[in-house]
Amino acid sequence: MTAPRTPVTPARSSAPHGTGADASEDSRVRRTGRQLIFSAYGALRAVKLYPVENAAVQKALADVAAHCKELIAAEGELELRMSGEFIFINQTRLRLDLDNFASFSHLLSLFRAAGIGSVSVGEEIAAKDWLIFLSLLQAPSSDEASERLAVLTEKLDSAGVTAFTLAPPAEQGSGNKEKARERAKRTYAQSVAATRELMSSVRMGGSPNIKKMKRVVQGIVDQILNEETSLIGLTTIRDYDEYTFTHSVNVCIFSVALGKRLGLTKLQLYDLGMAALFHDIGKSRVPQSILNKSGGLTDEEWRLIASHPWLGVLALFQVRGAQDLPYRSMIVAHEHHMKRDLTGYPRPIRDRQLSMFSKIVAIADGFDAATSRRAYQTVPFTPAQVMLEMRDNPRRGMDPVIVKAFINLTGIYPVGTLVILDTFELGIVHAVNPLQEMLSRPVVRIVSDQQGNVVYPGTLVDLADRNADGVFLRTIIKTENPDRYGIRVGDYFV
Ligand SMILES: [Fe+2]
Ligand SMILES: [Fe+2]
Repeated sequence: MTAPRTPVTPARSSAPHGTGADASEDSRVRRTGRQLIFSAYGALRAVKLYPVENAAVQKALADVAAHCKELIAAEGELELRMSGEFIFINQTRLRLDLDNFASFSHLLSLFRAAGIGSVSVGEEIAAKDWLIFLSLLQAPSSDEASERLAVLTEKLDSAGVTAFTLAPPAEQGSGNKEKARERAKRTYAQSVAATRELMSSVRMGGSPNIKKMKRVVQGIVDQILNEETSLIGLTTIRDYDEYTFTHSVNVCIFSVALGKRLGLTKLQLYDLGMAALFHDIGKSRVPQSILNKSGGLTDEEWRLIASHPWLGVLALFQVRGAQDLPYRSMIVAHEHHMKRDLTGYPRPIRDRQLSMFSKIVAIADGFDAATSRRAYQTVPFTPAQVMLEMRDNPRRGMDPVIVKAFINLTGIYPVGTLVILDTFELGIVHAVNPLQEMLSRPVVRIVSDQQGNVVYPGTLVDLADRNADGVFLRTIIKTENPDRYGIRVGDYFV
């Protein structure tokens, strides 16, 4: 499935802006760019199958070099840049469709595995340069992921290939990634602190400051739009004592990331984030002793808990600056447990359609709640179990299309899942693979040796990496409960 944000459009559609001349120039770059990718893919396969002298290999390599030269002649320069699931030729984004999908994604995964974000091609480019570059790209690498780009550059140098200038992905340049993580940690900590303040203020009958919460949500939205991985990683911390606050922040993070996938605008994401952050505000009106009770609930206690949606609406009416609060926050507080078939609570009197925001928050909420350890749930489900349950059990009342988008966001093995690999190592899922057909091959942090001894902080590996024969180096066998190994997943994300 392709998220609506990134529509698949055939190349023949006209360019959205610019003069007619610009548009035709644009489509020329796009056409030649696609031919370049095709021929590079063809050359990769030819190099793998036949000896170098083979005519098919020579022809494929000559084609690649010719397309490069054509682009350089037309554009004055040639840079191939990988960004998410896309390949750019200079400033032009190549369009993906079904017949080029395999070549695009194969090339993208090779570049990604090598740590390459962009390749500038010089005008002296020749077929033999591509031969060396593609062979090196396909060779299995035992180097640390962070070293691969430097090693590859060195190998090209020593082979006398100077036509390529390789650079790391823009957001992952050395130091930037660390900074992004630091920023994410700060955003997360501030959000939890502000939510704690808000909830206790409501509990004490005070009127919390909405402006401050708006800033919190803006921080989360901006962070998700710039670099979503770090913030999603932090949702795995799930501090037992702070459950109520971290839960609200986690639901906000998941909802915003999901809203982004569904193509919402930045302003809509702000509103959605506010609604998500406030979805359980009604719980501040329920005695803590009931919220934290570990045994079964009496009917009366259950009635109180089940009243948190409408208590939430009341609380939202009473906050200072309620006029600044999107009306949708109240709807979400009211609807987030209703379920699609309206069998949840509160039971509406009339038939109704749940709002899009409520459906999004319900999924983020259901996922975070089920994977967290709480008073009445000492053994949480693994994230993968929860995901399948939400997808396959209609009684959960989740919107199947949004669940699908959520799976695309988090992968089949969501971030924070402990997995056992076919190498007998344990791994913690670190980041989802952006390629749709690779959802079962995330980036994983190896946290044990092959004997099962837990290590810290462990090393990152990409499960999409293959050896020279195209066989995957590591594959997930099953998911496991981290408690069995004494592992605290959150420790690996701070
Ligand atoms: Fe709730
Ligand atoms: Fe909740």
